[in-house]
Amino acid sequence: MPGIVIVGAQWGDEGKGKITDLLAEQADAVVRFQGGNNAGHTIVRDGETYKLHLMPSGILHPGKLCVIGNGVVIDPKILTDELDDLRRRNVDTSSLRISANAHLIMPYHMLLDHAGEIKLGRLQIGTTRRGIGPCYADKAARLGIRVQDLLDEKILKKKIVAAMEPKRLSLRDFARDPRLDLQTMTEEYLTYGHRIKQYIADTSRLVLERLDEQELVVFEGAQGTLLDIDHGTYPFVTSSNPIAGSATIGAGIGPRDIDEVWGITKAYSTRVGSGPFPTEVEGALGDELRERGAEFGTTTGRPRRVGWLDLVALRYAARLNSLTALAITKLDVLSGQPTLSVCTRYRANDGLELEHFPYHQTVLHHSVGEYEELPGWSEDISECRHEEELPETARDYLKYISAFVRAPIALISVGPGRDQVIWTEAGKRMYGSGAVAGS
Ligand code: GDP
Ligand code: IMO
Ligand code: MG
Repeated sequence: MPGIVIVGAQWGDEGKGKITDLLAEQADAVVRFQGGNNAGHTIVRDGETYKLHLMPSGILHPGKLCVIGNGVVIDPKILTDELDDLRRRNVDTSSLRISANAHLIMPYHMLLDHAGEIKLGRLQIGTTRRGIGPCYADKAARLGIRVQDLLDEKILKKKIVAAMEPKRLSLRDFARDPRLDLQTMTEEYLTYGHRIKQYIADTSRLVLERLDEQELVVFEGAQGTLLDIDHGTYPFVTSSNPIAGSATIGAGIGPRDIDEVWGITKAYSTRVGSGPFPTEVEGALGDELRERGAEFGTTTGRPRRVGWLDLVALRYAARLNSLTALAITKLDVLSGQPTLSVCTRYRANDGLELEHFPYHQTVLHHSVGEYEELPGWSEDISECRHEEELPETARDYLKYISAFVRAPIALISVGPGRDQVIWTEAGKRMYGSGAVAGS
């Protein structure tokens, strides 16, 4: 099983960082393939918390090849800060490799992201304001500046001028902003180039070499399926494709190099930012779930919106990603709920019942979840390490999800810690029993 893709099956923050770190133990390489520092992937290890924004979640395993692929957009300030922080914490970062073709987030991208949101006012998307959308827009417009451009002052300057020219009108308010001064910007970015030069490589070739050797490569997605620019809740989405197919483009490999696709989902739902959320729960219950799950954004600190598990959306995610398995996280957060609602269909505002995720924006915006009620459990399950130790109602809850989505469950996470995980028999079979830490 050389190529395994980890994708978010919801609206992001499903626990991809934790699962990737876990799988990285057996892997030879970990590759980020899209998104940028809008992502915040948390790993809790030996009581220490690491919040990674650009660094692949394999970096805590010394010596593993960690790749930032061509599909990622890189803010070099964040990248160098993250490298410094990891080094300060004695993490060896020498096995990092950065694609020469990855695009760079420039100061004007951040300003445009910010200004765009302000302009939208009440209709704003609630972006992370990290410049992600404007950077991908420049990539598509062929005005992007790439990692390789940092190595040549003349080229870099020329490209900055060309990229800023068509933005003159929208950047009018920032005309005197020192961050946009051509010389300052060029010098700043050349310095970043100097700092990351040692890591720049043809990463597509490096990854393919590993795959050819039958070595295990984990492709780590950022964001989640419902934030996908093509298949998500457009326009309330991110500007890349977080779905599994994107791993091929964003890493520079072929579709036949992927053997497994695991969808990570919480045992309930969350969303940060605006946009439709058919199973959203507000009020006291919403507050309780948010507190119990510590649902505050890793990147922006914003409180996450919370809701019941949306199986209509999860089945949609299984289809779009051709999921071979699910990993369910944060099951521990549901302890103490007398009953658990799971959304099995939507009700549109004309009263029609919908079994499938609606393709029409207006229909989706007016859809609400319809639920089945399943019995909950009161026990603390955070110390469970085997399926049989879970209360029967928790096992039934998982069985219900798996049957509805028609995908086996490989992993169950019962706490933020590395060891707080249950490998199912299906998971052990798929990932190999050698991967099961401590068993
Ligand atoms: P990612 O963006 O998908 O990597 O997820 P985030 O790191 O943004 O958010 C997931 C949060 O949940 C992090 O704070 C994790 O430490 C935490 N977490 C992961 N798995 C579990 C779990 O099973 N139970 C609990 N209580 N927390 C978890
Ligand atoms: P991880 O990888 C949750 C959301 C933003 C906003 C929308 C667009 O940690 O799961 P953007 O800045 O990308 O243009 O914002 O997407 N968003 C995320 N939500 N987790 C993330 O990443 C996200 N990255 C972006 O809140 O609604
Ligand atoms: Mg996150």
